[in-house]
Amino acid sequence: MAKVWLPLLLTAVLLLFSSAPRSAGGSPLHVAGRWSQPNTATFFKDRLKNSLSLTPSISSSSSSPSSLASGFTCDACKAFFEVVRELYDHGFMRDEIAKISVDVCTTLKIEDHTVCSGVISLFKDEVLTVFEKVGLGSDEACNIVVGDSCSKGYDPWHQKWSVPIPGDKPPVTHHSPEPGSPVTGVLHITDIHYDPLYTPGLTRDCGEPLCCRPPNAQGNSSTAAGYWGDYKCDVPYQTLLNLMEHLQKQGSMYEWVYWTGDMPAHSVWTTTRQGLLDMMTNITDLMSTSFGGKPVFPTYGNHEGVPVNSFPPPYITGNMSAEWLYSGSAERWAVWLDKFPEWPTINATIRKGGYYVVKVREHLKVISLQTNFCNTDNYWLLINSTDPAGQLQWLVEQLLQAERDGDKVHIIGHIAPGLHSCNPVWSSNYHLIVNRFESTIVGQFFGHTHHDSVEIHYDDKNVS
Ligand SMILES: *[C@@H]1O[C@H](CO)[C@@H](O)[C@H](O)[C@H]1NC(C)=O
Ligand SMILES: *[C@@H]1O[C@H](CO)[C@@H](O)[C@H](O)[C@H]1NC(C)=O
Ligand SMILES: *[C@@H]1O[C@H](CO)[C@@H](O)[C@H](O)[C@H]1NC(C)=O
Ligand SMILES: *[C@@H]1O[C@H](CO)[C@@H](O)[C@H](O)[C@H]1NC(C)=O
Ligand SMILES: *[C@@H]1O[C@H](CO)[C@@H](O)[C@H](O)[C@H]1NC(C)=O
Repeated sequence: MAKVWLPLLLTAVLLLFSSAPRSAGGSPLHVAGRWSQPNTATFFKDRLKNSLSLTPSISSSSSSPSSLASGFTCDACKAFFEVVRELYDHGFMRDEIAKISVDVCTTLKIEDHTVCSGVISLFKDEVLTVFEKVGLGSDEACNIVVGDSCSKGYDPWHQKWSVPIPGDKPPVTHHSPEPGSPVTGVLHITDIHYDPLYTPGLTRDCGEPLCCRPPNAQGNSSTAAGYWGDYKCDVPYQTLLNLMEHLQKQGSMYEWVYWTGDMPAHSVWTTTRQGLLDMMTNITDLMSTSFGGKPVFPTYGNHEGVPVNSFPPPYITGNMSAEWLYSGSAERWAVWLDKFPEWPTINATIRKGGYYVVKVREHLKVISLQTNFCNTDNYWLLINSTDPAGQLQWLVEQLLQAERDGDKVHIIGHIAPGLHSCNPVWSSNYHLIVNRFESTIVGQFFGHTHHDSVEIHYDDKNVS
């Protein structure tokens, strides 16, 4: 839901900072504080009107995020960022600029005030850090926001790296299991998007990205949220519980579980690190009770980031790093994963980059990938998108080992490589790996799209 407007909004904030004068070693902060006119909002709104006249669809009454995004043309985008640069040149402080961004966001009806100010204050630090390091101009930023039609040729993801893959692909032989071979079942659960605040009776039409929750008004006969849920809202507790009770009864159908991420609700303007870990505690408890000790193999969805999509690679250290998430989830997921002899390694690779390998049974391994390292909304990757945390290199090593040992492998992750939200260079490296290890990888399980679908990897040399 948040997909369309978020990048737009963020890039607006980003540009506020990237246009800062950059003197040797100094942060933009040292130029701040000189411009203290009281009329900042008026100044900005006048300039904004000029930009708006370029894009009738923005100033129309529609507040739908998608109509906004499609109406946000190249010219308007650049004009907008010119205004922003001027603000910066006037020496606005970071916090002032953030405040003005909230104004812009609200005035443009990108979202309402609560959502705008929540999102901007959550993203401020990430965006600042990234753009101080990267230094995009308005051409580059508009390429990211609007697409290739704006500033063709800019490559935000440095799409040139490749992971070395050893040759000697074994000949592919197809064989079906003998009739009567033992059969097992695997449960795949994904994108729960559980909303603890869901309240039946509240309106499903609240004008925010997520409704059916306080402080939304009561709905009427056609807008009231139902007891079990609503297509415009996330999942209430009773529905999650009912699902788990059902799965418990069906327990004989599966022996282990793949849980491919996105546990929280889409209320991305209110997330906190502690809130996310609390929810992880609750859902991990619920699943381990419901699945009666059957192992669950989890992976990270883009909504496990705080803020959403934020997964700093290991080159970000300190409080901005993902250490809080990795250590918090390793502790919680230990309820399943520490039963395996390779737990010390699992614990270590989760803490390094959110990925791990585990041998589920004789000749079958599960590799859980941190696909947020290909997420095009993960702005940390603008600093360096080259095989973050060395994950794909690690994947190649694991597959090589499995090939030598005659093991088969299932891969799980959240964002399927090849989707638009997965950085194309990461996707194509992944594709080459899958191709090379065609006889070792026997299953791949992803989530993210909220659709039941199948993706096909063609052999590059023989597409028949
Ligand atoms: C319900 O409320 C919405 C506004 O929230 C209104 O447009 C609609 O006409 C109302 N429907 C009924 C059946 O009262
Ligand atoms: C977790 O469970 C506790 C106790 O049942 C509850 O009070 C809390 O609201 C839950 N938190 C979330 C995020 O579901
Ligand atoms: C670390 O970051 C979190 C979230 O941004 C913040 O709540 C916390 O106060 C920070 N801690 C320190 C020591 O800076
Ligand atoms: C996991 O690794 C961390 C960091 O090395 C360590 O502090 C922790 O004790 C380990 N957890 C377990 C359960 O082994
Ligand atoms: C980006 O990361 C890769 C892999 O860690 C590293 O080899 C490369 O030097 C980095 N590039 C820059 C510009 O820092």
